[in-house]
Amino acid sequence: MHKLTHLIFSFVLFSIISADPICTLGYTMVNNKCWKLFTKHENQTTADERCRENGGGILVTMKNAIDNRALLTVLNGTGIHRLWMGMTCRESSVSWCQWADKTDVQYNSFSSGYPNSQVGKCVYYNSYGDLTGQWTSEPCEEKLPFVCEILSSTPEIVGSDCYSQYNNFCYTRVRDKLSFKSAQQNCVLKNSSLISIHSYLENRYITTLFNIDGSVWLGGQITPYDTLEWTDMTPYDYSNLKHVGNGTCVSIGLVKYTNAMDWSTGNCESTYPSICKRPLTI
Ligand SMILES: *[C@@H]1O[C@H](CO)[C@@H](O)[C@H](O)[C@H]1NC(C)=O
Ligand SMILES: *[C@@H]1O[C@H](CO)[C@@H](O)[C@H](O)[C@H]1NC(C)=O
Ligand SMILES: *[C@@H]1O[C@H](CO)[C@@H](O)[C@H](O)[C@H]1NC(C)=O
Ligand SMILES: *[C@@H]1O[C@H](CO)[C@@H](O)[C@H](O)[C@H]1NC(C)=O
Repeated sequence: MHKLTHLIFSFVLFSIISADPICTLGYTMVNNKCWKLFTKHENQTTADERCRENGGGILVTMKNAIDNRALLTVLNGTGIHRLWMGMTCRESSVSWCQWADKTDVQYNSFSSGYPNSQVGKCVYYNSYGDLTGQWTSEPCEEKLPFVCEILSSTPEIVGSDCYSQYNNFCYTRVRDKLSFKSAQQNCVLKNSSLISIHSYLENRYITTLFNIDGSVWLGGQITPYDTLEWTDMTPYDYSNLKHVGNGTCVSIGLVKYTNAMDWSTGNCESTYPSICKRPLTI
């Protein structure tokens, strides 16, 4: 083989091998997703909160028939016949149902007569008898076991000191209270930037990095043109900005043991903890 071709080939091969995604926090990989079974029976609200506490997860989603069938292998031998899945339906029609990651429902495996919001708005998965693999619903206050889901991540190459890895980024929490500008300078010292957030799931994940009541700096600033600009120069493609205050710097309001994650704008001289973010070197 030509030397250069060989070199490129080896490099590509190495990249592929070293880029295998993994599941953290005791989750198991199933069809490239990370799932974890919780056998304790909880109502749907508490089950959702347990998932959030476990790596910013959500209740399990089955976006296709392969996922739907794969869930049975996770339950095999557990004796569990029903469990919560990450879906709620406000009315008795699939178009009123939403996945826990806030996406609309394309694929579904509802049992005939469901969803039925009269019976209940929370959807569960059947893993026993004639209804195996089918979805039905019941009141959200009922208590069932559940499976949580998080995104897989590619581990950083050996030698990383990154503690919080998620979806191929490294997140560092900074407890010191700093102004927006000092917080950004501090992140640059760590080869990072103040955090930018690009999805509901990422926003949910970062609620798990601090267990405090209060504001934490994000890397967003409102421009004179009333759009939001991230300090790491990534596109503004997701927003959870809910409160506009007196100032242009963006923070997130956290509340202990909850999924509170609204963003606010405020005075850039306020001093808050912060989160730095950088891509993992993989
Ligand atoms: C469940 O486990 C049994 C015994 O280990 C196996 O024979 C069966 O194929 C499994 N079923 C599924 C759906 O994985
Ligand atoms: C769910 O359970 C928790 C703890 O057991 C309880 O505090 C909460 O009120 C329940 N919520 C619903 C909607 O049933
Ligand atoms: C930042 O990156 C540079 C160059 O890649 C490296 O030499 C340095 O050790 C890094 N610093 C930290 C704090 O990671
Ligand atoms: C907003 O900030 C400006 C400049 O710091 C200050 O003059 C003004 O009084 C503030 N307004 C309110 C409502 O706090």
